[in-house]
Amino acid sequence: MARVPGRIGVLISGRGSNMVALAQACAPGGTLHGRTVIAVVVSNDPGAAGLKGAADLGCATAVVDHRESRTREEHDARVAAVLDEHRVDLVCLAGYMRLVSASLIRRFAGRVMNIHPSLLPAFPGLHAQRQAIEHGVRWSGVTVHFVDEGLDTGPIILQAPVRVEEGDTEESLSARILAEEHRIYAEAVRCFFDGRLRIEGRKVRIAGR
Ligand code: GRF
Repeated sequence: MARVPGRIGVLISGRGSNMVALAQACAPGGTLHGRTVIAVVVSNDPGAAGLKGAADLGCATAVVDHRESRTREEHDARVAAVLDEHRVDLVCLAGYMRLVSASLIRRFAGRVMNIHPSLLPAFPGLHAQRQAIEHGVRWSGVTVHFVDEGLDTGPIILQAPVRVEEGDTEESLSARILAEEHRIYAEAVRCFFDGRLRIEGRKVRIAGR
């Protein structure tokens, strides 16, 4: 019997290149094709460039403007309603510039992922690539992790290293890191829908790895 494809809801705030990479992985020829679909792309910012990119790729889109809610909980309840409406199994934060409330995390327990452009726990928060350059590290990279209530603190699923080159700028390092982001986010999603991820405290066990 054909397997029912897993449904991803992608939350964005900006350009959405990770969302596009996931959508391309779901398309024919991609590593997620046949097993995963993008059910909806939600932005908290009506001006997010990624909304057009998502629509161009044929994805359903929704705007839940955070300025229309009085509290984080109220905003997240509206986001959750959209995710429920689209029967989302897995929530992927992709350049989503908001902390997610405890209520949304509970509602999608173990089913919210984020991608961050550093080797966490180094350089959480904004401008991770700039932080890496200013700190003088030789290596930085990418982390895909489950989301908890902290800022970039949840259990780590996959990481990929990226070397910091002599003379790197924030832009040049970001570009090389982004290429790795696009690769490992789809890989983490694939592990999730293959049922290979198990969270044990701070650790994520990946079956068969
Ligand atoms: C990426 O670097 C991601 O790791 C970080 O925000 C950026 C979003 O880029 N959380 P995009 O919107 O996916 O192009």
